[in-house]
Amino acid sequence: MTKKEVKKKTFQLIKGMKDILPAEQKYWEYIISEVKKIARQYGFERIDIPVVEATDLFSRSVGQATDIVEKEMYSFVDKGNENISLRPEFTAGIMRAYIEHGMLDLPQPIKVYTIGPCFRYDKPQAGRYRQFHQFNFEIIGEEDPVCDAQIIQIAYKINCVIGLEVNVQINSVGCPICRPDYEQVLKEYFKKHRSKLSEVSQKRLAKNTLRILDSKEEQDQSFIEEAPQQVDYLCEECRNHFIRVLEYLDELEVPYILNPTIVRGLDYYTRTIFEVTPVEVSDSDKEQSRQTALGGGGRYDGLIELLGGRSTPSLGFASGIERLILQIKEKNIKIPTPPSCDILLTQLGEDARKKALVLFEELTKAGFKVREAFSKNGLKPQLEIANRLGVKLALILGQKEMIDGTIMIRDMDGGIQEIVDYQKVIPEIKKRLEKLAIVNIKLDNKNKSMHPASEVPDKE
Ligand code: HAM
Repeated sequence: MTKKEVKKKTFQLIKGMKDILPAEQKYWEYIISEVKKIARQYGFERIDIPVVEATDLFSRSVGQATDIVEKEMYSFVDKGNENISLRPEFTAGIMRAYIEHGMLDLPQPIKVYTIGPCFRYDKPQAGRYRQFHQFNFEIIGEEDPVCDAQIIQIAYKINCVIGLEVNVQINSVGCPICRPDYEQVLKEYFKKHRSKLSEVSQKRLAKNTLRILDSKEEQDQSFIEEAPQQVDYLCEECRNHFIRVLEYLDELEVPYILNPTIVRGLDYYTRTIFEVTPVEVSDSDKEQSRQTALGGGGRYDGLIELLGGRSTPSLGFASGIERLILQIKEKNIKIPTPPSCDILLTQLGEDARKKALVLFEELTKAGFKVREAFSKNGLKPQLEIANRLGVKLALILGQKEMIDGTIMIRDMDGGIQEIVDYQKVIPEIKKRLEKLAIVNIKLDNKNKSMHPASEVPDKE
């Protein structure tokens, strides 16, 4: 490459990746703060695990024959010759940490949550990225169906708090005792229609029959609809467990749809599985529904044993933050904006700049929401910033103020400027901001009384 070409080269995002620009941060901050609030309310503690784990951990947990492990993992051999992968999900890593740190000897259940990036080499499209972010909740070490209901309640509630209308689609995939019988029945059924099934499903018939139910191919849909359902083949224990989960959900008034065709794309599940989808997605619109699943989870009672721990029934769910943000934007949901700033500190001349540097520290220490324009010279560009930020007051520290030991306070709305003693600047701006807040409350109340319609009870 010539010197000229090197200079010209610009870089672009890697396919499937996404920048989160400042304008979008408010959505992230909002969702993450609501997730943390709910985690605290329900007694979940934060856990953080590495982005990379041994590749085997995922192939053993998520399943060798799943799309995630077969096609979507970012796997590589590191310089120490270890086969490692970027995590495609959190559950496997959290279970590894649970076993490794002897958490099974702590009082159970262990309730943990985490938030962070995951990686899947998936086909990028709206709401589907190769690096995406999940928040993930797990209850480890408890078999009682009340936990299933609580996990589903949390998955549902987070969407409600954000203002999204969602459905919970629920199913039970049984346990190692009853599932093989069902798989056999299902295999027999699909074998009869083998030639009419899609190529993908024909392959799955041999390797993982259950996954045919998850097919996105149009030609498979009528056979899936007619297929035998797992709920009819549950053993008594699994059936009772599932009934109790549904009873608790009824009690909590969490609306759910029994959907016998959800199987989830990960092999570790036992008993309860569920997905959270936006409300307008109909049952028949399966492909769309799968792409827009906002969250999903379920029980994985055998996973910890599979990874070398002792038998520990557990369950959890994860939701995709990018997908929630997409929904918030599509539905035009207003989210609380971060508090704006009240004051801009401006300065004219080098001496004033030095004094302003110190004053800025004092103002932030005193708790004011203040911005600065240290790199600007001249009043005009600084006042333009004040206007753009919509601050209530601008503090002006010029040559004259420096000599007199004063500072100018400018009311940005009225344009009135007052010179005050520099030593009294903090109580002076406090007084003015309080006065402005009272005026705003009064104006608000006046507006309400001028438009009382919203307060009059509807006569109908
Ligand atoms: P999952 O259904 O594979 O479950 O992923 C959970 C959520 O992550 C999905 O519903 C979706 O919102 C989001 N998601 C998945 N892939 C992508 C992608 N390529 N781009 C954007 N968002 C995506 C799990 O990961 C399980 N570990 C959940 C769980 C926790 N089960 C028990 N505990």
